[in-house]
Amino acid sequence: MMGKKVVSPGGTMEGVIELPGDKSISHRYAILAALAEGMSEISNYASAADCRSTLECVRGLGLEVTSANGVVRIAGKGLDGLREPKRPLDAENSGSTLRMLAGVLAGQRFASKITGDSSLRKRPMRRVMDPLRQMGAEVRSAEGDRAPLEIRGGNLRGIDYTPPTPSAQVKSAVLLAGLSAEGITTVRESIATRDHTEVALREFGATLDGARGAISIRPRPKLTARQLVVPSDLSTAVFLIGATLVLPGSSLLLHNVGLNPTRSRVLDFFNSIGAPVRIATVQMRSGELVGDVSVRYAPIEGGEISGSKVAEMIDELPMLAALGAYTEKGIEIHDAQELRVKESDRIAALAEGLRQMGAKVEEFPDGLRVEGRSAGKLRGAKVDPHGDHRIAMALSVAALGAEGDTTVLDAECVAVSFPDFFSTLDRLRGSEK
Ligand code: S3P
Repeated sequence: MMGKKVVSPGGTMEGVIELPGDKSISHRYAILAALAEGMSEISNYASAADCRSTLECVRGLGLEVTSANGVVRIAGKGLDGLREPKRPLDAENSGSTLRMLAGVLAGQRFASKITGDSSLRKRPMRRVMDPLRQMGAEVRSAEGDRAPLEIRGGNLRGIDYTPPTPSAQVKSAVLLAGLSAEGITTVRESIATRDHTEVALREFGATLDGARGAISIRPRPKLTARQLVVPSDLSTAVFLIGATLVLPGSSLLLHNVGLNPTRSRVLDFFNSIGAPVRIATVQMRSGELVGDVSVRYAPIEGGEISGSKVAEMIDELPMLAALGAYTEKGIEIHDAQELRVKESDRIAALAEGLRQMGAKVEEFPDGLRVEGRSAGKLRGAKVDPHGDHRIAMALSVAALGAEGDTTVLDAECVAVSFPDFFSTLDRLRGSEK
């Protein structure tokens, strides 16, 4: 147990690194391996606690899962090979686990219950309950459409569904339920969200028609076990890129980063605000784009994020907001009310933490504005990430350029996506003790 963590400012980021596997892709490979026939082998599986939660749920559904040195093996028994769980499945902090597995459970002829930690039990679940009910699943929830969800599935029919809020988790839940439905299931979206589920479904042998905007899945495919390598997590890389842009003189090379176009908009954004982020040696691996990313320090200009960019950079917004104080013009975010229903209310948590460090922050219902350098240098402070991994990492990176030490409370929450965050940061800053 780490408790609080003191982050001292200064140093320069320097080095070459290969980060652990992408969280989103790891979840999907594990879930599809569980539904496929045969032994899948997933290398560079994410070290994120969230992805361990998915594996625990897969075990709870009666499958054999082993994990050693970043390689996960799952012995799938096909679409009908899951067993009624003896205990409620626990997704812990992971919204992706709960919502995507809700789609899988809706396709199963047994009753199951899936829940999560106190943060996840506060998050909205109506968004998956609605379409799964339309498909014919019985879904009950705690008051206010919150987890735990009790699902009795089977006998699903395909639907044509447009999620009211852009969400890759909801799209994925519906497509996964569609695997076991009668007839075609279609999901439409006007704002594109990450398409790892579609890519992975095809890799495991499912047939999907259409493309971005309207994707349809044909039911009852034979999914076959695969050997896959998970690309490094771009959303994790963004915190190290952020640190490189806070500390003058820094330069960093990240190997084999996932560059799926539905995720990599953040790199374009960095370039648009003057951050020299370069991509090299790009290749396609199992339908996912992978490449090396390099970045060096440069003064950054700042800018605004709104509209469709929000969904494309949803997990990067905490880091970008925290960088605001290091930009010329500040960072302003709009249309991002979804941030209020993530692992914490990220708008409120960022505004609170950054203000504690002396930043000038204006909070809006759908975003925030963090003033640039002219508002003054940040100072070290005691900050509370509200149990949210991305808030803890964003505030820690902001602390690197502050005057004096920052104490991050409950810093162990970084393990949800990047257990080695602090040691990696210290190593790359040459300050590992
Ligand atoms: C994720 C989708 C996003 C993202 C989350 C991971 C996924 O959530 O914020 O961290 O793996 O599908 P929404 O789909 O709810 O926006």
